[in-house]
Amino acid sequence: VNDVTRRFNQLMAGLDHPMIIVTTAAGGVRAGCLVGFHAQGGIDPPEYAVWLSKANHTYRVGALAEAFAVHFPSSDQRDLAELFGGSSGDDVDKFERCRWTSGPDGVPLLDDCPNRFVGRRTAWLDAGSDHVCLMLRPQQAEVGPEGIDHLLWLGEVLGIEAGHGAEERQRPRTVDAADR
Ligand SMILES: Cc1cc2nc3c(=O)[nH]c(=O)nc-3n(C[C@H](O)[C@H](O)[C@H](O)COP(=O)(O)O)c2cc1C
Repeated sequence: VNDVTRRFNQLMAGLDHPMIIVTTAAGGVRAGCLVGFHAQGGIDPPEYAVWLSKANHTYRVGALAEAFAVHFPSSDQRDLAELFGGSSGDDVDKFERCRWTSGPDGVPLLDDCPNRFVGRRTAWLDAGSDHVCLMLRPQQAEVGPEGIDHLLWLGEVLGIEAGHGAEERQRPRTVDAADR
Protein backbone atom coordinates (compact mmCIF):
# COMPACT_ATOMS: atom_id res chain seq x y z
CA VAL A 1 0.00 0.00 0.00
CA ASN A 2 1.58 3.32 -1.03
CA ASP A 3 1.25 6.70 0.69
CA VAL A 4 -1.61 7.92 -1.49
CA THR A 5 -3.64 4.77 -0.80
CA ARG A 6 -2.88 4.96 2.91
CA ARG A 7 -4.08 8.56 3.16
CA PHE A 8 -7.08 7.83 0.91
CA ASN A 9 -8.04 4.93 3.18
CA GLN A 10 -7.70 7.27 6.16
CA LEU A 11 -10.14 9.73 4.55
CA MET A 12 -12.59 6.92 3.73
CA ALA A 13 -12.39 5.54 7.28
CA GLY A 14 -13.80 8.89 8.44
CA LEU A 15 -17.02 8.35 6.49
CA ASP A 16 -20.04 6.52 7.81
CA HIS A 17 -23.09 5.69 5.72
CA PRO A 18 -26.08 3.34 5.84
CA MET A 19 -25.66 -0.19 4.55
CA ILE A 20 -27.96 -1.57 1.88
CA ILE A 21 -28.82 -5.08 0.72
CA VAL A 22 -29.17 -5.38 -3.05
CA THR A 23 -31.08 -8.35 -4.48
CA THR A 24 -31.79 -9.49 -8.01
CA ALA A 25 -32.73 -12.58 -10.04
CA ALA A 26 -32.05 -14.03 -13.48
CA GLY A 27 -32.97 -17.37 -15.01
CA GLY A 28 -34.72 -18.39 -11.79
CA VAL A 29 -31.53 -17.82 -9.75
CA ARG A 30 -31.78 -15.35 -6.87
CA ALA A 31 -28.85 -13.31 -5.62
CA GLY A 32 -28.12 -10.55 -3.15
CA CYS A 33 -25.33 -8.99 -1.14
CA LEU A 34 -24.56 -6.33 1.42
CA VAL A 35 -23.34 -3.11 -0.21
CA GLY A 36 -21.52 -0.16 1.31
CA PHE A 37 -20.71 1.64 -1.97
CA HIS A 38 -23.91 3.42 -3.07
CA ALA A 39 -25.38 6.90 -3.53
CA GLN A 40 -28.12 8.87 -5.23
CA GLY A 41 -26.87 9.81 -8.69
CA GLY A 42 -29.71 11.79 -10.31
CA ILE A 43 -32.67 13.98 -9.33
CA ASP A 44 -35.03 14.30 -12.30
CA PRO A 45 -35.34 11.55 -13.24
CA PRO A 46 -34.17 10.06 -9.94
CA GLU A 47 -31.28 7.62 -10.21
CA TYR A 48 -29.33 5.56 -7.74
CA ALA A 49 -25.80 4.19 -8.15
CA VAL A 50 -24.66 0.91 -6.60
CA TRP A 51 -21.18 -0.55 -6.97
CA LEU A 52 -21.02 -4.35 -7.25
CA SER A 53 -17.82 -6.30 -6.69
CA LYS A 54 -16.76 -8.44 -9.63
CA ALA A 55 -15.96 -11.23 -7.18
CA ASN A 56 -19.58 -11.61 -6.09
CA HIS A 57 -22.26 -14.09 -7.08
CA THR A 58 -24.60 -11.06 -7.13
CA TYR A 59 -22.45 -9.42 -9.81
CA ARG A 60 -22.59 -12.51 -12.01
CA VAL A 61 -26.37 -12.93 -11.68
CA GLY A 62 -26.88 -9.14 -11.88
CA ALA A 63 -25.04 -9.00 -15.21
CA LEU A 64 -28.04 -10.91 -16.64
CA ALA A 65 -30.75 -8.95 -14.80
CA GLU A 66 -32.63 -5.70 -15.33
CA ALA A 67 -34.49 -5.31 -12.03
CA PHE A 68 -32.82 -4.88 -8.65
CA ALA A 69 -34.20 -4.26 -5.17
CA VAL A 70 -32.34 -1.95 -2.80
CA HIS A 71 -33.21 -2.54 0.88
CA PHE A 72 -32.27 -0.32 3.81
CA PRO A 73 -32.03 -2.62 6.86
CA SER A 74 -32.51 -1.13 10.31
CA SER A 75 -29.97 -1.01 13.12
CA ASP A 76 -31.37 -4.17 14.79
CA GLN A 77 -30.81 -6.23 11.61
CA ARG A 78 -27.11 -6.95 11.83
CA ASP A 79 -27.92 -10.66 11.43
CA LEU A 80 -29.42 -9.99 8.00
CA ALA A 81 -26.35 -7.94 7.06
CA GLU A 82 -24.19 -10.86 8.19
CA LEU A 83 -26.19 -13.29 6.02
CA PHE A 84 -25.90 -11.11 2.91
CA GLY A 85 -22.40 -9.75 3.53
CA GLY A 86 -20.68 -12.64 5.26
CA SER A 87 -21.73 -15.54 3.04
CA SER A 88 -21.88 -16.05 -0.72
CA GLY A 89 -24.57 -17.38 -3.01
CA ASP A 90 -21.76 -19.50 -4.44
CA ASP A 91 -21.89 -21.58 -1.24
CA VAL A 92 -25.30 -21.14 0.39
CA ASP A 93 -28.87 -20.28 -0.59
CA LYS A 94 -29.36 -17.05 1.37
CA PHE A 95 -33.04 -17.06 0.47
CA GLU A 96 -33.64 -20.26 2.42
CA ARG A 97 -32.45 -18.36 5.49
CA CYS A 98 -34.61 -15.25 5.35
CA ARG A 99 -38.19 -14.27 4.58
CA TRP A 100 -38.87 -12.82 1.16
CA THR A 101 -41.58 -12.29 -1.46
CA SER A 102 -41.13 -12.40 -5.20
CA GLY A 103 -41.26 -8.93 -6.80
CA PRO A 104 -40.88 -7.56 -10.36
CA ASP A 105 -38.96 -9.98 -12.63
CA GLY A 106 -38.80 -12.42 -9.69
CA VAL A 107 -36.53 -10.12 -7.67
CA PRO A 108 -36.68 -11.23 -4.02
CA LEU A 109 -38.07 -8.51 -1.72
CA LEU A 110 -36.94 -9.02 1.88
CA ASP A 111 -40.05 -9.12 4.08
CA ASP A 112 -38.16 -7.79 7.09
CA CYS A 113 -36.87 -4.70 5.22
CA PRO A 114 -39.89 -2.53 4.41
CA ASN A 115 -37.64 0.44 3.55
CA ARG A 116 -36.74 -0.35 -0.04
CA PHE A 117 -37.12 0.45 -3.71
CA VAL A 118 -37.05 -1.59 -6.89
CA GLY A 119 -35.13 -0.06 -9.77
CA ARG A 120 -34.51 -0.86 -13.42
CA ARG A 121 -30.98 -0.84 -14.67
CA THR A 122 -30.15 2.19 -16.84
CA ALA A 123 -26.40 1.57 -16.99
CA TRP A 124 -23.74 -0.97 -16.03
CA LEU A 125 -20.48 0.89 -16.08
CA ASP A 126 -17.23 -1.03 -16.09
CA ALA A 127 -14.27 1.32 -15.80
CA GLY A 128 -11.88 -1.58 -15.31
CA SER A 129 -11.74 -1.55 -11.51
CA ASP A 130 -12.77 -4.34 -9.17
CA HIS A 131 -16.37 -3.02 -8.98
CA VAL A 132 -18.94 -2.06 -11.63
CA CYS A 133 -21.30 0.88 -11.23
CA LEU A 134 -24.94 -0.14 -11.61
CA MET A 135 -27.32 2.79 -12.24
CA LEU A 136 -30.96 2.25 -11.25
CA ARG A 137 -34.14 4.16 -12.06
CA PRO A 138 -36.63 3.58 -9.20
CA GLN A 139 -39.89 1.96 -10.33
CA GLN A 140 -41.51 1.41 -6.97
CA ALA A 141 -40.53 2.57 -3.50
CA GLU A 142 -41.79 1.84 -0.01
CA VAL A 143 -41.16 3.34 3.42
CA GLY A 144 -41.87 1.10 6.43
CA PRO A 145 -44.15 2.08 9.32
CA GLU A 146 -41.17 2.90 11.51
CA GLY A 147 -39.65 5.30 8.99
CA ILE A 148 -35.96 5.67 8.22
CA ASP A 149 -34.62 6.96 11.53
CA HIS A 150 -32.80 3.78 12.55
CA LEU A 151 -30.81 2.56 9.59
CA LEU A 152 -27.87 0.16 9.88
CA TRP A 153 -24.63 2.12 9.55
CA LEU A 154 -21.25 0.95 8.33
CA GLY A 155 -19.82 1.52 11.80
CA GLU A 156 -22.22 -1.15 13.12
CA VAL A 157 -21.16 -3.93 10.72
CA LEU A 158 -17.39 -3.54 10.72
CA GLY A 159 -16.71 -7.03 12.13
CA ILE A 160 -18.43 -8.83 9.23
CA GLU A 161 -15.95 -10.59 6.97
CA ALA A 162 -17.07 -10.38 3.32
CA GLY A 163 -18.05 -13.67 1.67
CA HIS A 164 -15.83 -12.69 -1.27
CA GLY A 165 -12.88 -10.31 -1.05
CA ALA A 166 -12.72 -7.88 -4.02
CA GLU A 167 -9.34 -9.37 -4.98
CA GLU A 168 -11.09 -12.67 -5.74
CA ARG A 169 -12.42 -11.40 -9.06
CA GLN A 170 -11.66 -13.58 -12.07
CA ARG A 171 -8.18 -13.12 -13.43
CA PRO A 172 -6.83 -14.85 -16.53
CA ARG A 173 -4.19 -17.38 -15.53
CA THR A 174 -1.93 -15.89 -18.18
CA VAL A 175 -2.04 -12.49 -16.41
CA ASP A 176 -1.23 -14.06 -13.05
CA ALA A 177 1.69 -15.90 -14.65
CA ALA A 178 3.02 -12.65 -16.15
CA ASP A 179 2.79 -10.91 -12.73
CA ARG A 180 4.91 -13.53 -11.06
C1 LIG B 1 -19.10 -3.82 5.36
C2 LIG B 1 -19.20 -4.47 4.01
C3 LIG B 1 -19.39 -3.68 2.87
C4 LIG B 1 -19.49 -4.26 1.61
N1 LIG B 1 -19.67 -3.46 0.50
C5 LIG B 1 -19.84 -4.04 -0.71
C6 LIG B 1 -20.11 -3.25 -1.87
O1 LIG B 1 -20.18 -2.02 -1.81
N2 LIG B 1 -20.30 -3.88 -3.06
C7 LIG B 1 -20.24 -5.25 -3.18
O2 LIG B 1 -20.46 -5.77 -4.28
N3 LIG B 1 -19.95 -6.03 -2.10
C8 LIG B 1 -19.76 -5.46 -0.89
N4 LIG B 1 -19.48 -6.23 0.21
C9 LIG B 1 -19.18 -7.65 0.01
C10 LIG B 1 -20.35 -8.59 -0.17
O3 LIG B 1 -21.48 -8.20 0.57
C11 LIG B 1 -19.91 -10.00 0.27
O4 LIG B 1 -18.71 -10.40 -0.38
C12 LIG B 1 -21.00 -11.03 0.01
O5 LIG B 1 -20.69 -12.19 0.76
C13 LIG B 1 -21.13 -11.39 -1.47
O6 LIG B 1 -22.18 -12.29 -1.62
P1 LIG B 1 -22.51 -12.98 -3.03
O7 LIG B 1 -21.26 -13.69 -3.47
O8 LIG B 1 -23.64 -13.91 -2.71
O9 LIG B 1 -22.91 -11.90 -3.97
C14 LIG B 1 -19.40 -5.66 1.47
C15 LIG B 1 -19.23 -6.47 2.62
C16 LIG B 1 -19.14 -5.89 3.86
C17 LIG B 1 -18.97 -6.77 5.07
